[in-house]
Amino acid sequence: MEKKSNSAEKILLNYYQKERKRQKSTLNLIASENYPSKKVLFYGGSLLMNKYAEGYPGSRYYQGCQYIDKIEELTIDLAKKLFKFEYANVQPHSGSQANQAVYLALLKPGDKILSLNLLAGGHLTHGAKVNFSGTFYQVHYYNLNPFTQKLDYEEISKIAQEVKPKLIVTGYSAYSLKIDFAKFRQIADRISAYLLADIAHTAGLVAADLFPNPINYADVITFTTHKTLRGPRGAVILAKKELGAKIDKAVFPGNQGGPNPAIIAAKAQCFLEALQPEFREYQKKVLKNAKAMADYFQKKGVKVISGGTETHLLLIDTKNSYNLTGKEAAEKLEKIGVICNKNMLPYDSEKPWITSGIRLGSPALTTRGLGEKEFKEIAQIIHNILQNPSDPKLKKASKSKVEILVKKFFQSQKH
Ligand SMILES: Cc1ncc(COP(=O)(O)O)c(C=O)c1O
Repeated sequence: MEKKSNSAEKILLNYYQKERKRQKSTLNLIASENYPSKKVLFYGGSLLMNKYAEGYPGSRYYQGCQYIDKIEELTIDLAKKLFKFEYANVQPHSGSQANQAVYLALLKPGDKILSLNLLAGGHLTHGAKVNFSGTFYQVHYYNLNPFTQKLDYEEISKIAQEVKPKLIVTGYSAYSLKIDFAKFRQIADRISAYLLADIAHTAGLVAADLFPNPINYADVITFTTHKTLRGPRGAVILAKKELGAKIDKAVFPGNQGGPNPAIIAAKAQCFLEALQPEFREYQKKVLKNAKAMADYFQKKGVKVISGGTETHLLLIDTKNSYNLTGKEAAEKLEKIGVICNKNMLPYDSEKPWITSGIRLGSPALTTRGLGEKEFKEIAQIIHNILQNPSDPKLKKASKSKVEILVKKFFQSQKH
């Protein structure tokens, strides 16, 4: 029996080491991933996770929470300072649970939500049929303009007037341009709807003042801490003060049990790092690097959705540009060590498992130290391989170019 568990332990460790090696030997262009600091990892995996702390600082259902209270208070203060907002709940385990808590706080089952169609860059929790949001609420969609592939505020306003939703959702998983939150506020005000800004993807850019900030316009803001913000897996809800009590109740006991104090401490560490001037410099590079890729593709005549990027990500129409589905393109890239995800495109005719495009993001490799020159080189590697996916010589050459970049920038780093 013991022997068996020993060998299972070895197998587990072996898989961990293999994953570590994979992360250190490939170029990661997944827009929602990043590499947090050693300190974030320390707190996130620390003994703080041993503590049960249902409730909130000062009113817990368990004894022994005096230090956890202080940690959570500090994390809340740092979140409020970083985003200049009046209320924060730092307990959500994930972005999905944060959104779930917001709906629970502001809506009743059957109420109407207006959000961006999933095909055009929205998130599952914004009303997908297969998600709780599409099950419990009546979901209506706005779309991107079919010609410009940009948000069309007049059209959104028209739909909002017709539908009269109780909540409008803005903020996306795969939209590469800026968002005019003031216009969304006007649209919401005309029909007395709540406005939720889900800035899961752009939180790091917002914190660095490099992307429009919804603070003056949204009633509630949700964001994940593990994407551009470069913190632990988890999320935060910011809200107008008067909605705070409702949100707290919706998080606990509404849809979560005990918070994870280890991750809460790791969030504090992440916010401390995001308050440093170097973080802003990092985010500037994130933007420049994404743009370097988009510019390269556009110069080559490749279809970049919405005409380019003003964020950390871009979408490429692989079907029209290379005659490859998103699935085929992403798989071909993985074979040479470039990791990205297939992605639905606006008005996509393919199924979500196939898709017509890929999404490319710059945050992870920017953390690894790669700059505009390297991102351009990566775009070139991608372009060549997608143009000639069955050329064995090119495949070999591309693979070795990837290996050279990996070796130069991060393979030998301990972290
Ligand atoms: C816009 C948006 N909201 C919410 C989420 C959900 O976050 P999580 O995966 O932590 O549940 C994501 C994740 O990709 C997202 O892109």
